[in-house]
Amino acid sequence: MSPALISTVTPDSTPKGLRPTSILHRTPWIPPIAVSAQGSYIQLESGQKLLDGAGGAAVTCVGHGHPAVNQALKDQIDRVSYVYNMQLSNEPAEELAKLLTETSNGAFELCGFVSGGSEAMEGVIKLSRQYFHETGQPQRNKFIARQLSFHGNTVATLSLAYHPTRRAPYAAILDEEHFHHVSPAYAKRFQRPDESEEDYVERLRAELEAKFLELGPDTVIGFVAETVVGAASGVVAAPKGYFKAMKSVCDKYGALFILDEVMSGMGRMGTLHAWQSFGDGVAPDLQAVAKGLGGGYAAIGAVLMSKRIVAGLRGASGLWKHGHTYQANPLACAASLAVQKVITSENLLENCRTQGAYLEKLLKVRLQGPNSPAAPFTFDIRGGGGFWGVEFDFDCPEAATLDLRGQGFALLLQARALENGLVVMGFTGSASLDGTKGDVIVLAPAYNITSEEVEKLVQIFGDSVEGVLDAHRV
Ligand SMILES: Cc1ncc(COP(=O)(O)O)c(C=O)c1O
Repeated sequence: MSPALISTVTPDSTPKGLRPTSILHRTPWIPPIAVSAQGSYIQLESGQKLLDGAGGAAVTCVGHGHPAVNQALKDQIDRVSYVYNMQLSNEPAEELAKLLTETSNGAFELCGFVSGGSEAMEGVIKLSRQYFHETGQPQRNKFIARQLSFHGNTVATLSLAYHPTRRAPYAAILDEEHFHHVSPAYAKRFQRPDESEEDYVERLRAELEAKFLELGPDTVIGFVAETVVGAASGVVAAPKGYFKAMKSVCDKYGALFILDEVMSGMGRMGTLHAWQSFGDGVAPDLQAVAKGLGGGYAAIGAVLMSKRIVAGLRGASGLWKHGHTYQANPLACAASLAVQKVITSENLLENCRTQGAYLEKLLKVRLQGPNSPAAPFTFDIRGGGGFWGVEFDFDCPEAATLDLRGQGFALLLQARALENGLVVMGFTGSASLDGTKGDVIVLAPAYNITSEEVEKLVQIFGDSVEGVLDAHRV
């Protein structure tokens, strides 16, 4: 089924075969309705079966309908489905917090729960400010984050991040006094030809230090980065040594080193925390996690707090001055706890690494092999674990044979893949600071994907790439 390219607010816009909708959707087409899902497959109302190559938005890490998680949710509903955390705590929340801190090798001492990634990053912003407010440095009120980043869709997290197209309509109301930006760490696009990896890291370190000095080093709360950039530029890991260098600047001036692992964390990169494999092993002072925490079974996120933060708060208020009604929800925590136990008991991090490597190999053969029609346009295939980005580029001479008619290739490809039975995430504007360049597809299958499913994924994906190219030849 091809998504109908119409606005849901247009009267009489419902295309044949689709239900009318009372939802103001996020897409300029009415999305098809999912009626059931199992493992890596989703069944639509139309009867079409889709292979979930994106885990939704890098969320469904143990697949759909896992019996152990379903059972944990059912059991918890029979015990207690809701308590308010200003009055009562609950068993799954306590057990989940214990598990998250005990598996961190001492990196994190306490955690707090919220209902998703934006809330987790909002919580990080507030907690880091609370930390300095309570530890005798109230003049610290500025954050430094990076261009081509994404930290959530609330006003504060849009201000913190720099995602050109997502922030554009709201630029007039974003906070430019307290949120500042330095260059992305995106070697394939921004490392200069005459620079070694070390030189590039040093340039970025020096830029961060210069930004500290410009703002006044004792006014900076912290430096914030996605360990592996997700939606903004499509699975971009930093060069080796980058996080060590950036943390050294934070340490020099007493600021916090903060990681957003909402998308890349909780196993997505093949290690529990992305910084363990893609962040020079440098643990942050504060970290946000979400998507893989609940695996799609519950709306949940968490803020993980290091000993430094906890020690500061213990000497002061001793509590987290931040709340939402559904924080530490028992059902969400029970589901999340079960997801995390499944990842361990089924050894899914290892499977994620193995199948991820297989996915990379097959993608490279199909899209960059000697006779691949996609090769001239496949700029980069990158990632790790269960998180892969395929970036396309149309600056090559062969692009003269195509007419995309002003449409973003990644979005055309996402639609074509869906038609062919595969869910992927397509992003445009991912490779330039003004959001005008870049087409990337993000693949983020469940950690328990099988090798047969990986083969099917690459086959449908390759067919879809070639299908879009063929449809736009001139
Ligand atoms: C790195 C990062 N931070 C924060 C968020 C926001 O998370 P949520 O959509 O759960 O609010 C996202 C979502 O994609 C993300 O990728």
